[in-house]
Parts: sequence; C-alpha cells; structure tokens
Amino acid sequence: MEKRDRLYEGKAKAVFATDDPNLLIQYFKDDATAFNGVKRGTITEKGVVNNMVASRLMTIIEAVGIPVHFIKRLNAREQLIRKVAIIPVEVVVRNVVAGSMAKRLGRQEGEPLPRPVIEFYYKTDALDDPLITRDHAMVFGWATEAELDWIMAACLRINDVLVGFFANIGVRLVDYKLEFGRLAENPQQVVLADEISPDTCRLWDMVTGEKLDKDRFRRDMGGVVEAYQEVARRMGLALES
Ligand code: TMP
Ligand code: ASP
Repeated sequence: MEKRDRLYEGKAKAVFATDDPNLLIQYFKDDATAFNGVKRGTITEKGVVNNMVASRLMTIIEAVGIPVHFIKRLNAREQLIRKVAIIPVEVVVRNVVAGSMAKRLGRQEGEPLPRPVIEFYYKTDALDDPLITRDHAMVFGWATEAELDWIMAACLRINDVLVGFFANIGVRLVDYKLEFGRLAENPQQVVLADEISPDTCRLWDMVTGEKLDKDRFRRDMGGVVEAYQEVARRMGLALES
C-alpha cells in the first residue's frame, strides 16, 4: 500500500490517496476546534488516542454486521479506509439530555431520555450545521428515504452496542455524532464513516459524572489529555506514540 497525495484536510483529520483508487488513508491530527472552528487548540497526542479508540469502536460495530469504511489501523495516527462520498447529513444519537438539546429545549443536562433520540444536521460549515428534518434531507437530495431508513436502523443498533460497551467500562454514553457515506466502488452501499472518539461523543463517568470527552476542551475545564487517555485506558488500549 503506497501513500499518495493529500486529498482533503479537515479540522481534526486529513485524508490521503493510495495506489488503490477505492482505498484512502485517514490521518488523525492533534488539532481541536469547537463551535465551528471559532475556538482552536491542540490536544497533545489526541490523534494517537482517537485513532486507537475509533479503530476499536469501528471494529466492534463491524462485528455486529454494520458495514463500516474502516479497514484497519496502520500505525499510531493512520487508518486504512474505504473511499466514500460522505452523505452531508450528520446524525446525532442521544441517550441523555446535554449540549444543544438542553439549550434548545430548556431541559436540564443529565436528564435521561426514555428512549434514544436521533437528530439530523445538515453538514455545511457556512450555515453552522443546522438541525434539519428528514424531509429537508430528502427534498434537497442530501439522502434518499431508503438511505435515511437504513441509517436510522443502523444508528439504533450501533447505540445498543455502544451503550453496552461503555457501560461495561463504567462510562455513560450520553450522546455522539455519526457520519455515513456511499462507497466509491458501489454507491448503493451506505457505510458508517468518519470516526467515533472522545471528540465526537459525550462520555461521562458512570459513578462521578466526570466528563471524559471534548466538552473539557469546549468548556475550558482542563484535564483534556488525561480524560481522553482515561477512555483509552478503560478500553484496554495501550498508549503508543
Ligand atoms: P450538541 O449537543 O452540541 O448538538 O452535540 C451532540 C453530540 O455531537 C456531542 O456528543 C458532540 C457531537 N458533535 C460533533 O461530534 N461534532 C459537532 O460538530 C457537533 C456540534 C457535535
Ligand atoms: N467539530 C466542531 C468544530 O470544529 C464542533 C464541536 O465539536 O464542538 O467546531
């Protein structure tokens, strides 16, 4: 596998071509942004931790039969992935009220939800990723009805798996963001893409409620690196650099 040109650089990751047109390399950076890039910083070794955490979570999800873009972790900061066209609809799955849901609906952070709630956001930085309905996604051609049905079912299955996995290591999976894509080699096939990591989840210690995720960076709480490392440690992942 030969690494070629950088195709894309995002806020927390970069993507490189390979000698196979259907395969890419996803590189995890230490850069962190919040509030659509308004707040910027770096979190030491975040890329290494997120690569390990995201690789393990993708493997767990694939093992229950949900297709993923992840193929394998290559080294400390890189993964080999299938090339996809990202569907511009970010999916947030919530088990507990927090963040924008608490603000928008005037609820207390920490209120458990009686069942998982799925929200869709239009992935477009110029508009700050607005909350949308399924109808918006369909009428503007961002995703088909069949794709949205498939995505919702996949999210509920993923949620069951991840809630259980994190509960086992003493972590409450409060909410998280997922992205899906259409395989370059077969656009009919939708797969889970991007990453699942402390950057894209809210993870609270089950007993103390301590935040083990990017809210420590967003809210200037300190202990960001230590929180990310604690998640990896509880997952049984040895830290390498
Ligand atoms: P929110 O409460 O700010 O809407 O965030 C919900 C979840 O989605 C939370 O776990 C953080 C994650 N998220 C991202 O991964 N990327 C984003 O751009 C945003 C806004 C949220
Ligand atoms: N990832 C988004 C940003 O770059 C927002 C966030 O995670 O809070 O600003």
